[in-house]
Amino acid sequence: MKRRVLIVDDEEAIRKSLQRILDYEGYESILAGSAEEAIRAAENDHPDLILLDIKMPRMDGMEVLARLREFSQVPVVMISGHGTIATAVEATRLGAFDFLEKPLERERILLVLRNALAQRKLSEENRDLRRRVENRFQMVGRSAAMKSLRGAIAKAAPTSATVLITGESGVGKELVAREIHRLSKRQWEPFIQVNCAAIPEDLIESELFGHEKGSFTGASAKQIGKFVQADGGTIFLDEIGDMSHRTQAKVLRVLQSGEVEPVGGARVFTVDVRVLAATNHDLDKAIEAKTFREDLFFRLNVIPMHCSPLRERREDISELIRHFVLAVSGENNYQERRLTEGAIRYMETLNWRGNIRELRNAVERLVIMAAGPNIEVADVKTLLPRVKSSPAPEPSGESGSLQEARENAERKYLIDKLEANSWNIARTARAIGTPRSNLYKKMEQYGIRRDVRETTSN
Ligand SMILES: Nc1ncnc2c1ncn2[C@@H]1O[C@H](COP(=O)(O)OP(=O)(O)OP(=O)(O)O)[C@@H](O)[C@H]1O
Ligand SMILES: [Mg+2]
Repeated sequence: MKRRVLIVDDEEAIRKSLQRILDYEGYESILAGSAEEAIRAAENDHPDLILLDIKMPRMDGMEVLARLREFSQVPVVMISGHGTIATAVEATRLGAFDFLEKPLERERILLVLRNALAQRKLSEENRDLRRRVENRFQMVGRSAAMKSLRGAIAKAAPTSATVLITGESGVGKELVAREIHRLSKRQWEPFIQVNCAAIPEDLIESELFGHEKGSFTGASAKQIGKFVQADGGTIFLDEIGDMSHRTQAKVLRVLQSGEVEPVGGARVFTVDVRVLAATNHDLDKAIEAKTFREDLFFRLNVIPMHCSPLRERREDISELIRHFVLAVSGENNYQERRLTEGAIRYMETLNWRGNIRELRNAVERLVIMAAGPNIEVADVKTLLPRVKSSPAPEPSGESGSLQEARENAERKYLIDKLEANSWNIARTARAIGTPRSNLYKKMEQYGIRRDVRETTSN
């Protein structure tokens, strides 16, 4: 696509000669002979770059620059005559990209143009990327639990305190860690994540602390440890409950002394690292079972943060769904899709054992696989047959319809009868006087499976 350059100069000869140069180089040019025309063209024609003369009658280039900045970030290159070099320099301070001196030299013009356009492309890409990353890690939810979590994050983030984040799988522990880093003074420094469960036990030490070349079999090159990589920033020790005793002792040492000792190395490094840790294990139990060091626990647990499971904050579900629908549609360049109110209400009653991660994946599947732009309860039931309903569906308050009440009652009735008949489908069907096929259909409809009962009892 041709890049479009707006040329602003009150002298026609200059406009024309600039236009010739740019045409020849494959740019498209728009010409403006006055400040007013320039602003109009900037608004309507969306140039990629503006060449702007400083000295013009009525409104000069500096004023035009200021006006432009009110509505556009388009790069501006000032054109300066003999008497206006100082003004041109001042203009770059006020946001002009660069300036050109008259008489205009072809090579210099092209160079400045290329630089300005390259920079514009970069900053656009940057903005895009940042927006995408921010969306991806945006924390959604207005339940009391989320509010108090946000409050705790806001208080703890600006400090360098160690935070221990707990909660079931998929509740958002990593998100919390990233948010703490993002709101801290270390936000521009590295955020280094280590999944302690994913690294084989005999490698985790060199992963965390680094190793010298040849320090053990297979250590063919020197490795810089994660603690050193994170220097000045934050290290996030994920799945902390899965570290061996030996590694626990070493981590404890770093926390106590701020010193890192690479495997097989003679040198000890001092690092300034903020530690965040997360686990979905019950560390109290692990301490009792002597698989987790109590002293390490106390070191890590300076500020505890707990992420509640989704089933304890169902009021977040609808907002999360809307958030994920937008995200998934955006990622796939889909036109707007939406879940009907009924579908959302139905999803609020599901169990979500995999918490927010499961909900996100479910929404992704619905958005991609549903037949039309409106996703209905029936779509949810067919596309998510394995997501089980909540064992005891909460009465949905004012929004509870007769239909829902009837369905809930029917569901409970079916589970009771199945249980009474040891989940033998044929026998249950006979007992309640319905064809087997109908019982299957109902079980499918309500997401009833044998292990539903297990969740009822806890
Ligand atoms: N409050 C939230 N708002 C929006 N998205 C969320 C929220 N919490 C979690 N998510 C999303 O849910 C998914 C799972 O979150 P995350 O990876 O942080 O969970 P986790 O607790 O670390 O899980 P695990 O224990 O399995 O590692 C991610 O895609 C994350 O972006
Ligand atoms: Mg995680």
